[in-house]
Amino acid sequence: MAAHRHILNASQFDRPFLDRLCRLTNKIRQFDKSKEGLIYLQSLLAHKRAMLYFTQPSTRTYLSFQSACHILGIKNSEIRDPSTSSERKGESIEDSLQTFSSYVDLIIMRSPVGGLCDRIATMLDRSDRPIPLINAGSGPDEHPTQALLDIYTLERSFKNLGGIEGKTICMVGDLKRGRTVRSLAKLVTLYPRAKIIFASPKEFKIEADLRNTLKGSATEFLETEDFIDAISQSDAVYMTRIQDEYDVAGGDSSKVDSSKFCLLAEHLKIMKETAVIMHPLPRRNELDPAIDHDPRAKYWRQERNGMWTRVALMTTLLGVDEHILLPEL
Ligand code: NCD
Repeated sequence: MAAHRHILNASQFDRPFLDRLCRLTNKIRQFDKSKEGLIYLQSLLAHKRAMLYFTQPSTRTYLSFQSACHILGIKNSEIRDPSTSSERKGESIEDSLQTFSSYVDLIIMRSPVGGLCDRIATMLDRSDRPIPLINAGSGPDEHPTQALLDIYTLERSFKNLGGIEGKTICMVGDLKRGRTVRSLAKLVTLYPRAKIIFASPKEFKIEADLRNTLKGSATEFLETEDFIDAISQSDAVYMTRIQDEYDVAGGDSSKVDSSKFCLLAEHLKIMKETAVIMHPLPRRNELDPAIDHDPRAKYWRQERNGMWTRVALMTTLLGVDEHILLPEL
């Protein structure tokens, strides 16, 4: 299993890492069941400080990372609006991030700029304080921690059905600009015989680089505009919203007809009884709230899993994971 200095993209993970992270997450949830367990978790990293630098809107990722810090006793500071930092005075993003590294032991960042996390990680590695960095979403390219919580949710949902191996996972929506799908698809390739169906309007098909990555893997995949056929044969349906914040002049999403790629209550009867329905959230009209109480709907659980998975990830990155895996409860 590879040791990680930073968490930058989904391609850096291997199967042993994912299996271990799932085990760790399960164990953390056991600790959560008692006051003593929670106090123990809070003692593990009480000597650490983290910076949450989120300059793109975020509800779940931000709050789950912040809560994960609280669970581990990590103190955190934040910047959510670059207009309140010295970037406004013309400071480069590199200088701003280097400044944060003077005060904290870990940086967690979300930015609208694809590839920025890699650049900052390189800069940190060359600096006097080479602290770890976690990518909490970088433009339309990657969202590795979302992919980890998605894998955990899938593995848990298929616990009595042999796990993710051999399952058909359908990803729906804006597959071109949706970073969650890009990161998750790469992780699914680590599960033998798993198959991916990408269902989207033709304007929002996956990008060529992801298609090439998948072609180079052993994972079978299919791209289709037939939403009904796709969801009826899938073990998991992963819905996503249209990412219209990335619209550029001439590429107006409102001109694309996405209406056929909405999961409605009437579709439940054509889905497998054991299927799971997921969504990274936030949702719009692509996922009908009437589905929320169907036992197959896992997205609210998926959201909470995000907090536990991020606790597990931070203990791994900061080297206290053995203190969770080893003790007998
Ligand atoms: C996603 C994101 O930010 O990429 N949200 C999240 O982190 N849970 C999905 C989205 O915004 O559509």
